[in-house]
Amino acid sequence: MRIWIAAATLAVVAPAWAEAPSPELKAKAVELVQAYGGKLKAALGSAIETGGAEGALEVCNKQAPVIAAEISGDSGWSVARTSLKPRNAASAPDAYERKIMESFVARIAKGEKAADLASAEVVDENGQKVFRFVKAIPTGEVCLTCHGENVAPELQQKIKALYPQDQALGFREGDMRGAFTLKKTLAAQ
Ligand code: HEC
Repeated sequence: MRIWIAAATLAVVAPAWAEAPSPELKAKAVELVQAYGGKLKAALGSAIETGGAEGALEVCNKQAPVIAAEISGDSGWSVARTSLKPRNAASAPDAYERKIMESFVARIAKGEKAADLASAEVVDENGQKVFRFVKAIPTGEVCLTCHGENVAPELQQKIKALYPQDQALGFREGDMRGAFTLKKTLAAQ
């Protein structure tokens, strides 16, 4: 019984096998991340300009999920953001994302840059081949307004009201804030 549990846990955390994905899949993932990241940045930038940080908070709250759904819907991929310290509890990582992000954190501690870290693999999930792409999102200066160590008290209150389980405060520039996470189920062979 104990052996069975150990094997089952292992299957979730470390897939029995993983293979290198095709260059086409990787290129498509990079393209989607650029489109998604670009839309998020544009929405955030114009929101800060017009409504300040508190207005931008509403945009992050309402627009971020809409943008993710748009990109996912158009492409047939699942496209989202996740974090080891999520603001939105719905963005908490699955076991695979957690494992990859923990490996990124270890690499950043050894001197690599968050902006350079990405992982692409085809893994087995319940007997299906699934392409998984995880790309680290660095914390930039503009992010500190809402994710940094000195978030304005009124803003913090609004964040807490929207996200009672918020963990996404206290980041420093250069930290990995989270990751883009993309998933595509591949046709059975
Ligand atoms: C105006 C405030 C604000 C700013 C500035 C901001 N964020 Fe966020 N961030 C939020 C909110 C609100 C959410 C939750 C969105 C949701 O409900 O999906 C969030 C969620 C996220 C998530 C998804 C995972 C999670 O924690 O829920 C990531 C990743 C993220 N932000 C990264 C960044 C980065 C990188 C920057 C700088 C480029 C940034 N944020 C700037 C408010 C902000």
